[in-house]
Amino acid sequence: MLRGVFITFEGGDGAGKSSQMSLLADGLTSRGYAVRTLREPGGTAIGEAVRSIVLDPATGSLDPIAELLLHEAARAQLVAEVIKPALGRGEVVLCDRFYDSTLAYQGFGRGIDIDRIDEVNAIAVAGCIPDRTVLIELDPMRGLAKVRARDAGADRMEQEDAAFHGAVHDGFLALARREPGRFRIVAQTPSREETAAVILKAVEDLFPDMTGSVRR
Ligand code: TMP
Repeated sequence: MLRGVFITFEGGDGAGKSSQMSLLADGLTSRGYAVRTLREPGGTAIGEAVRSIVLDPATGSLDPIAELLLHEAARAQLVAEVIKPALGRGEVVLCDRFYDSTLAYQGFGRGIDIDRIDEVNAIAVAGCIPDRTVLIELDPMRGLAKVRARDAGADRMEQEDAAFHGAVHDGFLALARREPGRFRIVAQTPSREETAAVILKAVEDLFPDMTGSVRR
């Protein structure tokens, strides 16, 4: 029995997930919740090693199925080593990307069959399904322009063309339509605080007691 609350953040590159996730983490921590923030791929030694393989431009061409399975391996480790134990202790787990990113990038982006990805996702997460997924929506070209201006060089995924990132963006919206109960679509606005307030509203039903211990 997992007693905690599991929330994932999704969106295209440069959509602003990471900064919004840390604002939500601060908000929940100040209300007394034990909050754990993670990112995918990453969050464990194995996951961070996978992250460097899949994001390093030096990796070059990676077979789409190999890329899919690397993400799933990182995810299986993160679920077993960190997410399940934290939820078992009643903590709030916030994860920057989770299996919807695989559906959007390897499915809608690379063209791997969605049903096949659903199957491997299910193996990797072993029943650990997010209670809520916040999809931060931003025009993919604006997001990419942001990361390209911010980072020293584009990573292997950011180097993909506009058609790829457009397909990923539309894929996320299709995933949100497929599971309206789990997803909330939040438009990125120029005001970080305004977007953060909308996100807090989008998850507050998961915290009936906004004063301290996690109750489900
Ligand atoms: P980011 O989390 O810093 O945005 O970088 C992660 C990149 O990896 C991003 O471009 C999305 C991509 N990715 C996949 O292609 N498949 C996945 O399953 C995950 C978790 C990420």
